[in-house]
Amino acid sequence: MKIAVVGTGYVGLVSGACFADVGIEVTCVDIDQKKIEKLKNGIMPIYEPGLEEIVVRNYKSGRLNFSTDLGEAIQGASVAFIAVGTPPGEDGSADLKYVLAVADEIGQKMTDYIVVATKSTVPVTTGEKVRGAIKNALDKRGSDLPFAVASNPEFLKEGAAVEDFLKPDRIVIGVDDERAEEIMKRLYKPFQLSGERIIYMDIPSAEMTKYAANSMLATKISFMNDIANLCEKVGADANMVRKGIGSDPRIGNKFIYPGVGYGGSCFPKDVKAIIKTAKQYGYDLRVLQAVEDVNDDQKHVLANKVKAHFGEDLSGMTFAMWGLSFKPNTDDMREAPAGVIIDELRAAGATVKAYDPVAMEEAKEHYLFDKVTYCNDAYDALVDADALLLVTEWSEFRIPSWEVVGKLLKNKLIFDGRNIYDKKYLKTLGFEVYNIGTK
Ligand code: UDX
Repeated sequence: MKIAVVGTGYVGLVSGACFADVGIEVTCVDIDQKKIEKLKNGIMPIYEPGLEEIVVRNYKSGRLNFSTDLGEAIQGASVAFIAVGTPPGEDGSADLKYVLAVADEIGQKMTDYIVVATKSTVPVTTGEKVRGAIKNALDKRGSDLPFAVASNPEFLKEGAAVEDFLKPDRIVIGVDDERAEEIMKRLYKPFQLSGERIIYMDIPSAEMTKYAANSMLATKISFMNDIANLCEKVGADANMVRKGIGSDPRIGNKFIYPGVGYGGSCFPKDVKAIIKTAKQYGYDLRVLQAVEDVNDDQKHVLANKVKAHFGEDLSGMTFAMWGLSFKPNTDDMREAPAGVIIDELRAAGATVKAYDPVAMEEAKEHYLFDKVTYCNDAYDALVDADALLLVTEWSEFRIPSWEVVGKLLKNKLIFDGRNIYDKKYLKTLGFEVYNIGTK
């Protein structure tokens, strides 16, 4: 079986490599010639555990190819996945120009029946727009070649994307054509040998499922951050409350960890986009508006605690920051709370020394530039710092040598934005720890 995956970003590359890994012949297409050359040489555009190995191995075996030629890639392909970016437009709605440009090109260049499946997160009704763009291009050619559209949203977590793809908890396929359904069934068979996990539905429902899933997860996080902030005021412990509610299987113990707010490429963008879609249909998603507001505020909580401790004016002070990426095991800096915290500390006159195990290059080149001093290791960041701010919970930050930390910092003071440190234990070592709602 042969497929094409258009867009070698996060979703496209992981999907293409994993399909190749189960024996499917895959061509990953991108308009960025440099990126394609790098991939051919085994250089990954993103950091994702396990990805490089799987890409290199399948490229060497010849099952995974990289190309800038979409027309060639779709020749003989049963499915063309659209996995290009859908950046938020100025008004928060997803910008479909890249998705529709790919659909148009497929219409121009297809020579046989093909299923065109969107993997990018796209607003409800995009399936129809994709169908329209392909049909239009075919009409211009005077062609009536048959094709089908499908919606096949991804549910990959950055940092665990390869694992998520190879062992999915569910595969959602929105489709309205029997032949296309059969093809998708065949394609996904290798990923569900231990039980059927495909949920078939109509295309708008599949599109909606993706937004609803991410919005629900974002809601859990904002809810818990709100509760944690209140815990602090009333003298309750958010960790205890988390365990207390998480043991109810209807609530569940995942995604209820308070922190410095959610970031990344999905939650912030998708919550904004669905609010916008609702507005277009004359409906207000009030819960999600609150989810977004709470998250925007949460990104300021750590810096506010620093100011509550030292006062509003932080001139001449230096803060060590551990972690920059929006979560561990990724170099993704998109919407990372670290950016907001750094801006706020700097605006109050402070300087920041940062260390992150993998995201520093990304931060330096595209996000934070020279706003912080990048350090060689975690301890290096502590030298002459007035306090430590833990922003991303990378494993290597979990049990540092407290003796060394205590010696290097000017004050034994920690602002733990992820609640990974044991406040009571650290108190016995002479540290003062502020965190998000725990005692
Ligand atoms: C998410 C979804 O999990 C995935 O299914 C979807 O396809 C894409 O969006 P991802 O963006 O990689 O994946 O990150 P995720 O692990 O879900 O974390 C999102 C953010 O929420 C991070 O900033 C994380 O730190 C934060 N978070 C998560 C919390 O603050 N508390 C939690 O309990 C869980």
